[in-house]
Amino acid sequence: MLQVNIFYFPFPKPPLFGRCLVALFLTLFPWPIPTALAKEFEPGAQWLDSSGVPINAHGGGILFHEETYYWFGEHKVAGDAGNYAQVGVHVYSSKDLFQWKNEGIALAVSADSKNDIAKGCILERPKVLFNPQTKNFVMWFHLELLGKGYFAARCGVAVADNAAGPYTYLGSFRPDAGVLPVNASPELQKPLLPEQARILAKSLESGGWNPDDIFRRDFAGGQMARDMTLFLDDDGRAYQIYASEENQTLHISLLTADFLRPAGKFIRIFPGDSNEAPAIFKHDGCYYLITSGCTGWAPNAARLFRAQSIWGPWQKIGNPCRGTPAQVARTFDAQSTFVLPVPGKKDTFIFMADRWNPTNAIDGCYVWLPLQFGSDGVPFLEWRDRWELNSSGFAEAINAQPKVANSR
Ligand code: GAL
Repeated sequence: MLQVNIFYFPFPKPPLFGRCLVALFLTLFPWPIPTALAKEFEPGAQWLDSSGVPINAHGGGILFHEETYYWFGEHKVAGDAGNYAQVGVHVYSSKDLFQWKNEGIALAVSADSKNDIAKGCILERPKVLFNPQTKNFVMWFHLELLGKGYFAARCGVAVADNAAGPYTYLGSFRPDAGVLPVNASPELQKPLLPEQARILAKSLESGGWNPDDIFRRDFAGGQMARDMTLFLDDDGRAYQIYASEENQTLHISLLTADFLRPAGKFIRIFPGDSNEAPAIFKHDGCYYLITSGCTGWAPNAARLFRAQSIWGPWQKIGNPCRGTPAQVARTFDAQSTFVLPVPGKKDTFIFMADRWNPTNAIDGCYVWLPLQFGSDGVPFLEWRDRWELNSSGFAEAINAQPKVANSR
């Protein structure tokens, strides 16, 4: 991210004698010269932490706790190996969302290959909430077991006494086993007969399947859970939102009061619509979800959904991106991971996304953009080469002419 001194002398230089006089004058009668530096976010550029090392927190999310931001994300290493968890969940802290201090590894993978979170497993999209009742920091993430590809489709949970950790791994599971969603169709209550299960397995191989059948297949053992996020509502209830049913359907699942387990109440959203990378936020009493389609590491068009209640009905609004056809079709070459409501700033939300680089995972970068609201109240995203968060929000970003030069 670029740091520029915004205070400069905009006039032609006066002669040397004149400059000396000005210097003398300023020494005797100092102006209240502002020393503040502009802090400009530069989406897609390399972003260094406070010690000059690129920030390594992919698929991340932010916790705001006691006036400090904590950014949790996947620690990636170089090459294809970086698509697997070689290190764990990295955490950084910040007071201003711009300068980040490396706080180290919040949750480390295990050297024991039998451990769920063994080195080389897949551990993605970690998110953390603080539970005011238990005083625990609770981390959820998408977990795939070592050597099993993306078949386990589990959620992992870890806890800590301190925001930055270290976190203790509690366990992993497929959520909502044996539970019907609030918005269940009668069809979902019928168990899948062995012959139907065989047909489903065959059709999964050829790529055509019915999400209801997948739900029924997984009903007893728990639903698949891949890309995920957490959401804390104003009433203190927490939810996990995850891509389920072979990534066909999103589930929104209430957590228990301690945030450690699913509470047994959930809904399915848009079965068969293939949404993942969920990022949820609330604005003016409405819930919004931004998702992507399912094209692996390759970018695709974002989708925006809205609901008056978290339990739905959810309405599909469309693509929140504005810009060139390529920007709109590929979400500025990035995939959503989180939307951060900036505390104390009305209508100020930051859209956080990842520009993945699966051939050299550590080179993936972050695309943070100001989320804007149209006159109809509908949120949208526009590319900015650079933007700033100032005391009243994103005024400068919104007024600045959008540029496309840096957007692939
Ligand atoms: C993406 C997903 C990432 C990662 C990747 C693996 O669709 O959002 O978190 O799982 O697939 O291909």
